[in-house]
Amino acid sequence: MKVLIVGGAGYIGSSIASACLDDGITPIVLDNLSTGVEAFLTGREAYIGDMADQVLLDKVFHDHPDIAVTIHCGALIVVPDSVREPLRYYRENVAKSVELVDGLVRNGCRRIIFSSTAAVYGQTDSLVVDESLPAAPSSPYGRTKAMLEDILRDSAEAFGLGALALRYFNPIGADPRLRTGLQTRRPTHLLGRLIEAAETGTPLTVTGVDWPTRDGTGIRDYVHVWDLARAHVAAVRGFDAVCPPGSFVAANLGSGAGCTVLEMVEAFAEVSGVRVPVEPAARRKGDVPGGYARWDRAHALFGWRPTLTLQDGIRDALRWIEARPSVLGD
Ligand SMILES: NC(=O)c1ccc[n+]([C@@H]2O[C@H](COP(=O)([O-])OP(=O)(O)OC[C@H]3O[C@@H](n4cnc5c(N)ncnc54)[C@H](O)[C@@H]3O)[C@@H](O)[C@H]2O)c1
Repeated sequence: MKVLIVGGAGYIGSSIASACLDDGITPIVLDNLSTGVEAFLTGREAYIGDMADQVLLDKVFHDHPDIAVTIHCGALIVVPDSVREPLRYYRENVAKSVELVDGLVRNGCRRIIFSSTAAVYGQTDSLVVDESLPAAPSSPYGRTKAMLEDILRDSAEAFGLGALALRYFNPIGADPRLRTGLQTRRPTHLLGRLIEAAETGTPLTVTGVDWPTRDGTGIRDYVHVWDLARAHVAAVRGFDAVCPPGSFVAANLGSGAGCTVLEMVEAFAEVSGVRVPVEPAARRKGDVPGGYARWDRAHALFGWRPTLTLQDGIRDALRWIEARPSVLGD
């Protein structure tokens, strides 16, 4: 079986490609390398170019008429950039995805898995996030993702597509076999900031220590990127039962366990042996307490459950930092 992975040279798409290969599925990658890296294409068939390029899409399907499913991970993903440059984000994430869907329909590919995000949700009082919550994204980035879900819902009905939106929470870690991981040396998420603080011997500033969480610090759901990747394999394998022609389905992919900032600091100390001191600070404008996923729907649909722990994610992130220069050649 073949799958087309748009954005397959990026962090998550390349992990999905590895999980496909391990499961006997052939990944065909289409990526414009805007943030993806060529080193992640080693051993994979790839087309370098833009997802909106109709000539390229026709060529991909001419060469591989047996592509069964397209997994659409191609996007710009930096929330603050999306605030500064909303038009770029709407063009890259929405307008180009419309072209992509058009090209897929024209080429007869009617099964799509879309990389969506927890950023389509608003803040909840209970902190638990399930798929019944209405979309209430708080950034242009989140809105591009919510918009594309609507576009896919309408396209499913109009063109008989099966469209499955998988809403990822906060991915951490790397392929346990270290074929791929985060391209960036210094990720800005909490784990990235902790690693940097440990390396430089500086304290971690914790903005907001009076949230309605068990220790007052913000709470997030960190899911191992390999668990995310495995979910796609399961969804590909069971696609028609999960998402029959004409249907749009959305499912959360998270660990299901909230992790506060202080709990992450503790888990990091446990795994790395380095206890990073914390410096409490006031909340920043626009910050939210956060939340965590219910993933029962993904389990009911395609039998997925997260299997790797927070500690596994931290350990694999640290192992990847060691392996990264040799994989990326820098
Ligand atoms: N990383 C996260 O925290 C996170 C969380 C939730 C959802 N997601 C979603 O997962 C997907 C993958 O994210 P990631 O973390 O791997 O990001 P990434 O930047 O590593 O990967 C995105 C990939 O898409 C490619 N791309 C972008 N625009 C393209 C275009 N027009 N044509 C062809 N290729 C294009 C990039 O070159 C890159 O390889 C995105 O859709 C993102 O919105 C990511």
